[in-house]
Amino acid sequence: MRTEHPKMIKLSAYRLPDYLIEETHLTFELHESYALVHARLVMQRNPSLDTHLPPLVLDGQKLELIDINLNGERLSAMEYTVTDKHLTLQPTTIEFELDTTVRIEPQNNTELEGLYKSSGMFCTQCEAEGFRKITYYLDRPDVMSRFTTTIFADKQNYPILLSNGNPIAQGEDDDGRHWVTWEDPFKKPAYLFAVVAGDLWCVEDTFTTMSGREVALRIYVEPENIDKCQHAMNSLKKCMRWDEEKYGREYDLDIFMVVAVNDFNMGAMENKGLNIFNSSCVLAKAETATDAAHQRVESIVAHEYFHNWSGNRVTCRDWFQLSLKEGFTVFRDTQFSADMNSDVVKRIEDVSYLRTHQFAEDAGPMAHPVRPAEYMEISNFYTLTIYEKGAEVVRMLHTLLGEAVFRQGADLYFERHDGQAVTCDDFIAAMETVSGMDLTQFKLWYSQAGTPRLVITDSYDAATQTYCLQVKQSCPDTPDQTDKKPFVIPLRMALLSQQGQSLPLQLQGESIAMKGERVLAVTEAEQSFIFQKVTEQPLPSLLRSFSAPVIMEYNYSRDDLVFLLQHDTDGFNRWEAGQQLSLQVIEDVVGQLYETDEPMMDSRLVEVFTALLAQDDLDPAMLAEFLSLPSTGYIIEQYEQADPLAIHQAREYVSNQLAYALKEPMRVRYDALRKTSLETPYVAQASDIARRRLQNMLLAYLMRTNDLDILDECVDQFGVADNMTERLAALACLVNSPFTDEAQEALKRFAERFSEDPIVMDQWFSVQAAAVVPSGLERVTHLLEHPAFSIKNPNKVRAVIGAFSMQNTPNFHAEDGSGYAFLADKVIELDALNPQIAARIISPLTRWQRYDLHHQELMLVQLKRIKNSGELSADLFEVLEKSLV
Ligand code: ARG
Ligand code: ZN
Repeated sequence: MRTEHPKMIKLSAYRLPDYLIEETHLTFELHESYALVHARLVMQRNPSLDTHLPPLVLDGQKLELIDINLNGERLSAMEYTVTDKHLTLQPTTIEFELDTTVRIEPQNNTELEGLYKSSGMFCTQCEAEGFRKITYYLDRPDVMSRFTTTIFADKQNYPILLSNGNPIAQGEDDDGRHWVTWEDPFKKPAYLFAVVAGDLWCVEDTFTTMSGREVALRIYVEPENIDKCQHAMNSLKKCMRWDEEKYGREYDLDIFMVVAVNDFNMGAMENKGLNIFNSSCVLAKAETATDAAHQRVESIVAHEYFHNWSGNRVTCRDWFQLSLKEGFTVFRDTQFSADMNSDVVKRIEDVSYLRTHQFAEDAGPMAHPVRPAEYMEISNFYTLTIYEKGAEVVRMLHTLLGEAVFRQGADLYFERHDGQAVTCDDFIAAMETVSGMDLTQFKLWYSQAGTPRLVITDSYDAATQTYCLQVKQSCPDTPDQTDKKPFVIPLRMALLSQQGQSLPLQLQGESIAMKGERVLAVTEAEQSFIFQKVTEQPLPSLLRSFSAPVIMEYNYSRDDLVFLLQHDTDGFNRWEAGQQLSLQVIEDVVGQLYETDEPMMDSRLVEVFTALLAQDDLDPAMLAEFLSLPSTGYIIEQYEQADPLAIHQAREYVSNQLAYALKEPMRVRYDALRKTSLETPYVAQASDIARRRLQNMLLAYLMRTNDLDILDECVDQFGVADNMTERLAALACLVNSPFTDEAQEALKRFAERFSEDPIVMDQWFSVQAAAVVPSGLERVTHLLEHPAFSIKNPNKVRAVIGAFSMQNTPNFHAEDGSGYAFLADKVIELDALNPQIAARIISPLTRWQRYDLHHQELMLVQLKRIKNSGELSADLFEVLEKSLV
């Protein structure tokens, strides 16, 4: 909490650290009502700078300084100054030792940053700037140090004491307390530090690395969760092998530990050798976790593990470079998930997410480049742009350089910078060295915010057999950025014949044709690509597999879209054609709904869905993707000023029409899939996941017909399923249906069965919070009173408040503004407890400019009310400051 406004921190103001910390020796004395942290820092003047000795300014917040000694001499109060952010003193020698002791109160730490308590255990979260809430330090990623950590705690309550690296000593005191000392042989920045103390059980396994070293793998959880670790352990072993095979990266310590904690602001954290996970991202078994949750565990375990190289061995110089580790690591985890499952389905999921959420961020008041130039609060920059768009930027490099050269570039990057804290420029420089390419223009992806638009037109001349693609690119203004320069945009494309075959691709000036597809490098504001020897009028298949994070416009007729959905040889573009067709059909209905209750719907959607359902050889995973309509969020993003209620209603209308029209074939297919599910024990593998996804999607459509026979099926699926995927899907169908008795009964049974499992209860909460039925707000207010709800637990906040405001369109966007007022109340309440969560959960309101004037005004009222509600955290202050210009 603050009185003065937080200041902008600028990339251009980066300076080397004045001092370095060679060794960090920490001792934690953990007690129920406080903890003492003793730090002995072996420091020196930064040898890269001159030998004069400026004041030493250490970061520290919410610390009570108990003792301070320089080179073994206690400092008098006149020899240092303490503010709410810093401890400053004057070193007198180039090398020196600083000892401090501070007192902190982990049990009262609701921000979940620094050292805090979660379900009876002690744990830490230090990235980005949490370490300064543990002890006075140079809390910046370019200060890397060797850590030794000793933890003292009560043996009975905290039998397990963990930190980074290897345990080197342990002992017991007579007062029932014990201690363990850990030593991490690798230098690291403070943000990768971790300690854990608790009564934990662990699942153990081993992994033999490519050079034959045996690594002990341990997943620590609360005792009741010991049966939910196997999936994470399997995922860990798979991703360790994959990183060796795909990137040549071997694990470097003898132990790799994962700890699950219930109260966690984000998904997980890659602390060296001691990853700490939100328990929802590590625990999974058939009865309690959906397929999607299993896949999320697999990808997050991999993400955090991959950070050991892309993040820990090579880290970031400063937090402006955050995407250096996050963009690259998301790219790596995406490749891994694609290899473990279906690459096309994975791409569809990632692109849907990116286009709905990151594009919205890029078009809103919080838009920022992949490498931001300034920030007030770094916690606000763990964004979709840094992570997901950052991964797209790496993916484009991979596309432009090709798999083999990209790998050489990654190898060179790791080799050049092992043990260093570096910048995005260093990453690009490695890619330039191996490819011989000049990537100067490409780097605009790091500095320019906003989603580029590609407008593509074409013309065919039968007489000369030439086909011309004209490509124009532009990028809208974003806060503080106008007049953007053209990007380098890899445009993967093919030309399809009337039979759907790919035509040879020979650009003017080339002597041979390329078969299949190729990648055009769009580099200018306007550019033409002229293909020769094109024997018939082709249909272009453009931006295949979404080869760049752009909005592309090409004027396909609806018949073209139907054709592409059925015949494009690129799976992603088949799906995309269906999305664009559905979008147009829904947009038609949005327009008509202002005039009539019975809009006319383009029959082509029903026809092509009918044809797809009849196609026996179509992969169920793909069929499920083809049958899913674009999300309400994505449709809203297509409008300058969206009417969320009309869009919701139109999407519902189209879904219902499809359900009635396709009821028979959907029912036949559903029955067959359900039968297989009943006969097959649950396995979280791609083919089974695809089957359940299609089955559940068909059930959702069928339930729209309000048929009592289907209701029975749904109730049955809910009751007999051996897995959460089928059970939860059936529950969601019931809760969103008019059959309120059946829904209530199912909710009751679900809560009885799973009341002891907080992660399962999160799903129970969010299914209800997201239910698009009348009086949604009343229900949500009621859920907040439920004994299993806690405003202090981020997962619960996301499950109830997050699900309501992100997924419950008709209730959140209610005409009377009640949904917005509710969110504002909760943001104010949360800001006093956990600013990071407050600043995140507010985001739907920050998108006010996307909506019609009525909704804009209602949102603005609430934003202003939050702003005037009293003292705000730096996190929330920055978001409001930017949203209210
Ligand atoms: N580095 C973590 C990851 O793997 C995220 C940690 C972010 N923590 C935070 N408080 N913002 O993505
Ligand atoms: Zn990460």
